[in-house]
Amino acid sequence: MQCIALLMAAGSGSRFGADRPKQFLTLAGKPVLRHAAEALLREGGVDAILPVCAADSQALVAGMLEGLPCLPPIPGGATRQASVRAGLEALAANPPALVLVHDAARPVVPPGTVAALRAALAAHPGAIPAQPVTDTLKRGAGGLIEATVPRAGLFRAQTPQAFRFADLLAAHRAATAEATDDAQLLEAAGMAVALIPGHEANIKITWPEDLARMEATLSPHLI
Ligand code: C5P
Repeated sequence: MQCIALLMAAGSGSRFGADRPKQFLTLAGKPVLRHAAEALLREGGVDAILPVCAADSQALVAGMLEGLPCLPPIPGGATRQASVRAGLEALAANPPALVLVHDAARPVVPPGTVAALRAALAAHPGAIPAQPVTDTLKRGAGGLIEATVPRAGLFRAQTPQAFRFADLLAAHRAATAEATDDAQLLEAAGMAVALIPGHEANIKITWPEDLARMEATLSPHLI
């Protein structure tokens, strides 16, 4: 079954505070975005990548991904959800059976992830890697704790997230509120999304120390 991976790279990375979006910064000699693309492709199971980026970064992104099986980058939107929607609509005329959605700011896709996601799609319309929450969770306001939130049954969602293409497109077209990941839109549409084990190495680079830590430890998954 054909599987296209959307590589989400249209964010400005304002929290990171660098002169370039974090997905374009260099990690171990390569752009973070190229690490993410190579990691998605490494074990098979993904036929091609469709990068989604800012309109003024399309040439830059095409250059960073040179030599990989990538479609020409397309422009994203003002939110992550709008960017994913743009990617899905670009594929809708000639739809793949399966689609992965991956944050370009996540340079590590741990071994076995794509295969496990694809296996889960045999039984469910969507599947995501997620890690159980291990810290105690507090809701706070004004610098004080308001409540302790029970962590039992809570997970941290990662990407790549995998979907049957037609179901994700329908969920996006039906969306009435902004979601921070794609699984949320399937949930809202009443479709089952499977959880597969995530991995601590699958970090979304958000703060400068994330990049520094990755450079220092250089996960074996990365090279
Ligand atoms: O901002 P956040 O870290 O949640 O973004 C996750 C991913 O979504 C990043 O790789 C970012 O480039 C992408 N994104 C996007 N379009 C936006 C906002 C974020 O493709 N408008």
